[in-house]
Amino acid sequence: MAKESEFVCQACGATSAKWVGRCPGCGGWNTLVEERVPKGSRARARGAMSVSATGSKVVRLEEAVAQEAPRVPCGMREVDRVLGGGLVEGSVVLLGGEPGVGKSTLLLQMVAQLVTQPEASPRMRGGVLYVSGEESAAQVAGRARRLGVREGDQLRLLASGDLDDVERAIAEINPSVVAIDSVQTLRASELESAAGSVSQLREVTSRLVTLAKQEARTMVLVGHVTKDGSLAGPKVLEHLVDVVVAFDGTRSGGPRLLRSIKNRFGAAGELAVMEMTRDGLQEVEDPSKLFLAERPKDVPGSVVLASADGPRPLLLEVQALVTPSAMPSPRRVATGVDATRLSILTAVLSQRANLSIRDRDVFVSLAGGASVDEPAADLGVACAIASSVVELSLPMDLVVFGEIGLAGEVRAVPRCTPRLEEAVKQGFKRAIVPRANVERGEVPPGMVAHGVAHAREVAAWIERKRDAR
Ligand code: TYD
Ligand code: MG
Repeated sequence: MAKESEFVCQACGATSAKWVGRCPGCGGWNTLVEERVPKGSRARARGAMSVSATGSKVVRLEEAVAQEAPRVPCGMREVDRVLGGGLVEGSVVLLGGEPGVGKSTLLLQMVAQLVTQPEASPRMRGGVLYVSGEESAAQVAGRARRLGVREGDQLRLLASGDLDDVERAIAEINPSVVAIDSVQTLRASELESAAGSVSQLREVTSRLVTLAKQEARTMVLVGHVTKDGSLAGPKVLEHLVDVVVAFDGTRSGGPRLLRSIKNRFGAAGELAVMEMTRDGLQEVEDPSKLFLAERPKDVPGSVVLASADGPRPLLLEVQALVTPSAMPSPRRVATGVDATRLSILTAVLSQRANLSIRDRDVFVSLAGGASVDEPAADLGVACAIASSVVELSLPMDLVVFGEIGLAGEVRAVPRCTPRLEEAVKQGFKRAIVPRANVERGEVPPGMVAHGVAHAREVAAWIERKRDAR
């Protein structure tokens, strides 16, 4: 067969006819790799987007609503919530995360629950096919036994990295759910490129998506993500699948966060928190409590903020440490908080709030490996920094949030009331929040909220507290 080749960015999937050092798509350096593609399969490798011309008919809106696919809850409450209420029949879910975070464990626990859960059973007649390209069937079985999975013929294992094997097995046993661990280890033999390359990932995924849609079969795919981008990531697959959930956390322990990045059948941004134990992953019902469990008492630089990245608010401890700097340009180091945002914030605090941090190093970290990605965290971070600068600990029952603009102004944040309600639930009594939110009447009973309009007010308040000491 005639061959054509193209250069594919392993980070974002952009293609180029010739090699270039810098990817035209994402700007990454040295990410383009030559991949040979048999003629004609190129279109198919991207083809899950195309609508087939066979058998599709036009329906009225009401008919289409009646045809909505049923959901099958897997029985892990928090996971089901992140999925929007369970797995939608015939949908494809991508579970992404770094090696060692617990993807295989989660996948196995999910399917084990699926096959034993009475609520799911009418929709699980075909059982589960668990495909492992990384571990042998014996290894998977061993882990399943450790996790307390009951044996039975509802859960079948296939250890293979060959897509043809997988397709054959699906045709043979007609499973209701197929779990693939991982897409990067599966390989379509028609393509010459290695397993895990962008063209393989696209081909494998689009064929699995087709299999899912044709037979109303649910697929859960594991996808590895690496920080350095050495593996082509789930990013290039996001548009092919229905749901993308990301699994985050540290390998050494601590909370694991499952977050929906994209969901065609529910809200994105839903978050579940889990802990890895000897008996597998345990769902954490009250994540704020977990994140605040080890909070030190009366230490300068520690502040609790209420984040609402997703639909459910979450209380997190932010810690700041401000120290004299030996560097000509002092360091601003952030973990769990966006680094650029921290640089801006320190500039605003020294320029607009007279906080003397210009010649000091500023370290900011969210406890427990958590992260926030919303401007509403600004005021909490600012308070932590100010508290560390003046070496004054803030009240333990205080929660802080608000966006800070370049002029130092504190701006209103969305969903103030649920954030404060979560704080009340966790025993917090006082809050510093944007004045505009207070004026809109967004303070629930049980909370005494102080509204501020400028970052200067917060810094001055902390300094006054110190002077009064
Ligand atoms: P794993 O699910 O293999 O991670 P991934 O598939 O994302 O690479 O497991 C991650 C870690 O969890 C592994 O180092 C072993 C540990 N672990 C437990 O602590 N308890 C358990 O019950 C299991 C199954 C694994
Ligand atoms: Mg694994």
